[in-house]
Amino acid sequence: MVRACDELGDTWGYKLFGTRTIITRDPRNIQAMLATQFDDYKLATDRDAMHQLLGTKGIFTQNGQGWKNSRALLRPNFDRAQVAELDRLELFFEQMHRRIEAVAGENRCVEMQELYKKLTMDSSSDFLVGSPVGSLFPDADDKGGVSSQTFSEAFDVAEVTIATRWALSNLYWLYSPKRFRVACAAVRGMIRGYVVESLQVRAEKKKGQNRYVFLDALADTTQEPQVLQDQVLSVLLAGRDTTSALLSWTTLCLSRHPAVQNKLRAAIAATVGVGASAKIPTQEELRSITYLKWVLNEVLRCYPPLHANTRCARVPTTLPYGGGLDGNSPISLMPNEKVVYSSFCLQRRKDLYGEDADEFRPERWGEEKIRKIGWAYIPFNGGPRTCLGQQLALTHASYFLTRLLQTYDVLEEDPEFEGLDIKYDSKINMSSGRGVHVKLA
Ligand code: HEM
Repeated sequence: MVRACDELGDTWGYKLFGTRTIITRDPRNIQAMLATQFDDYKLATDRDAMHQLLGTKGIFTQNGQGWKNSRALLRPNFDRAQVAELDRLELFFEQMHRRIEAVAGENRCVEMQELYKKLTMDSSSDFLVGSPVGSLFPDADDKGGVSSQTFSEAFDVAEVTIATRWALSNLYWLYSPKRFRVACAAVRGMIRGYVVESLQVRAEKKKGQNRYVFLDALADTTQEPQVLQDQVLSVLLAGRDTTSALLSWTTLCLSRHPAVQNKLRAAIAATVGVGASAKIPTQEELRSITYLKWVLNEVLRCYPPLHANTRCARVPTTLPYGGGLDGNSPISLMPNEKVVYSSFCLQRRKDLYGEDADEFRPERWGEEKIRKIGWAYIPFNGGPRTCLGQQLALTHASYFLTRLLQTYDVLEEDPEFEGLDIKYDSKINMSSGRGVHVKLA
């Protein structure tokens, strides 16, 4: 469960079975772990709980030299991907549009969270392996004997089980139900199919399609099938649900804040038109819509998809603040002691953001005060391990939201769900526990 931790202070700890865990929402501590004392810390055992799905050779689960090698391997591919064309995204938007029209009955109400998960599964897999595997395209080619529908479902089963394994901390290995093992095998088998194909195409020196495909670009640097498979899975996990969570929370916020929605629609209309005069936006046009940036920044502040994260000490070290009677002294940490940091709690601190910290108010991103916010805003992390897909995620989210507002004049909350308090569903990512039920017309 996510909750604000005002009553507990900014840094506190608890002991379970003799093991101490520190919880912090102090930006100075977070900066130390992620940047200034980076080498003293490593990923906590939570990531080992993901090995069955992700393998051990992908960036998301590695530490030390292995991680450095992965980062150096993947980074140039992200730099190249930033210039990828948006025309592929339009295919997926059109497909989602069709799905909306198919399910919106007379009352025009649709649950968008599940649709966004399918959308981002398709757009991510298309970018990563060159072919959409999700269920927006039920007739997509099947690889590895697994249908596209099964792939999405298997990925979901694996993610849900990993969240339960996380709750067991160091004892995660006790929980490995058969459905989890089957799901991981299905997902890995399908990605392996794409890897084999990509390597064969290279071996036969066939000219592939001209467009950018992450796996093929990676195969220019390494031909080790295990590395290719694990890296693709790491990036799929890192990028898919995070982007769909951003889209979902933004849609919910826009449906609940008509004034923000009207302002955003006007900004979009002025740049790329809406309704009959709408044109497909370019990257430059999307980047130029300042208010869209503010809205996304504010959604990521109030509803960070990765709402909490962990690190543990690699060597004897310190957290700079939280110790002593006044909390201003360092806390010493022994190797493997764990620190949980919550971007959700951090980004709602009233002493940092003001009394209206719990309010959704995109305008704050135009104010002077926010420019100095620094380590108090970390939806994409910071330091050497900062998110590699940040620009990509913001481009994709900007594109899909712009197209949605260009297409529909009405985006309102489904009357059945209107005014209900927000319910959080915090697994690997934080999603809306009630879904995102809106009326689109
Ligand atoms: C709104 C969307 C996204 C959010 C909020 C987000 C957030 C994050 C955060 C907080 C981390 C740090 C994890 C850690 O070190 O513990 C991370 C890492 C990462 N993200 Fe993202 N991410 C998003 C989208 C994406 C996308 C679309 C991709 C790729 C297509 C991506 C690729 C990665 C990778 C590869 C890492 C690992 C970096 C490393 O360990 O060096 N992310 N992301």
